[in-house]
Amino acid sequence: MKPKIKKILVIHGPNLHLLGQREPDVYGRVTLEQINSGLKKLAAKKKARLAIKQSNIEGEIVDLIGKMKGRFDGLLINPAAYTHTSVAIRDAIAASGLPAVEVHLSNIYTREEFRQKSLISPVAKGTIMGFGGKSYALGLEALMDLLG
Ligand code: DQA
Repeated sequence: MKPKIKKILVIHGPNLHLLGQREPDVYGRVTLEQINSGLKKLAAKKKARLAIKQSNIEGEIVDLIGKMKGRFDGLLINPAAYTHTSVAIRDAIAASGLPAVEVHLSNIYTREEFRQKSLISPVAKGTIMGFGGKSYALGLEALMDLLG
């Protein structure tokens, strides 16, 4: 039997559109376009269909997650700064009932104290961080494995 195509929503949170120029010593030189094209190639191999969104607006991210049910199988999310502040995004993920993998380019536990807490991790299936742009590819692989 042919494997069923999995539909994955990929969300990049605030300021990630600036990757490549933004604090390259922390986030590297990789651009969001390069990350997205790598994800699309990997998705084609893994029989996944991706919808990719970047938003700087918390409520918009909550709405995107809120509309996932029945349309997507899983969520790959870098909540960026909202990782550390957003009860609303955390609740939206929990309410969706869908598996989510959280990713970060940097290792948040090696950084400022205010970044060393994720409100999202407790509602994620798992978190991958510290591998630069590669964290996304590792996260997509993990999510696809989870979805079988
Ligand atoms: C980040 C880490 C966050 O603390 C930060 O606000 C970001 C990016 C990361 O991918 O390393 O914008 O999520």
